[in-house]
Amino acid sequence: MKDLKDKVVYITGGTKGIGLGVAKTLLGAGMRIAISGRTDASVDEGLKELNNTEVIGIVSDVCRIEDEMNAVNRIVEKWGQLDVVLANAGVGNFAPIDEMTDKQWHRMIDTNLNGVFHTLKASVEELKRSKGYYMTLASLAGTNFFASVRATMPLNLG
Ligand SMILES: NC(=O)c1ccc[n+]([C@@H]2O[C@H](COP(=O)([O-])OP(=O)(O)OC[C@H]3O[C@@H](n4cnc5c(N)ncnc54)[C@H](OP(=O)(O)O)[C@@H]3O)[C@@H](O)[C@H]2O)c1
Repeated sequence: MKDLKDKVVYITGGTKGIGLGVAKTLLGAGMRIAISGRTDASVDEGLKELNNTEVIGIVSDVCRIEDEMNAVNRIVEKWGQLDVVLANAGVGNFAPIDEMTDKQWHRMIDTNLNGVFHTLKASVEELKRSKGYYMTLASLAGTNFFASVRATMPLNLG
């Protein structure tokens, strides 16, 4: 995709961090952007930061496929197309197994694994139509074990 002008991108978890940074860059390239997050407040924060009429914010929890279906419908209603999806939403609970709770484990799997499936499942037909792209953000932690990683990284309970 050489010319990004007016192409439409959906960035899950675009309210802060890497997703928000990518949104800023792609706005600069002329793309139309949808960002999502779990709460009205966080989505509003992201929108305020981007401060651009070519951005919409959607409250959607990637752990819920109905939310992601709704998000894609909103985007297509607004702009009539979806060209790129960046499955960026993610959480990291860094703790040794004897300290990690069952709830933390399931939230990570629901967000980082099932969430990526939900976003793709919800958007795949639109991406086939636009001959678009689906990208995911992963972590080295997915393929490398870090002993006591908790000691070097903050515990993210966000
Ligand atoms: N930062 C790093 O060093 C690093 C390293 C390796 C991989 N990654 C991966 O890169 C991605 C972004 O990381 P980051 O550092 O930018 O994280 P971050 O600053 O904590 O931001 C996470 C984003 O994900 C959203 N989010 C979390 N759970 C969600 C859910 N269930 N549904 C929808 N949105 C959800 C948050 O939105 P709300 O809070 O508004 O809901 C927020 O916008 C993640 O997938 C992370 O695993 C990051």
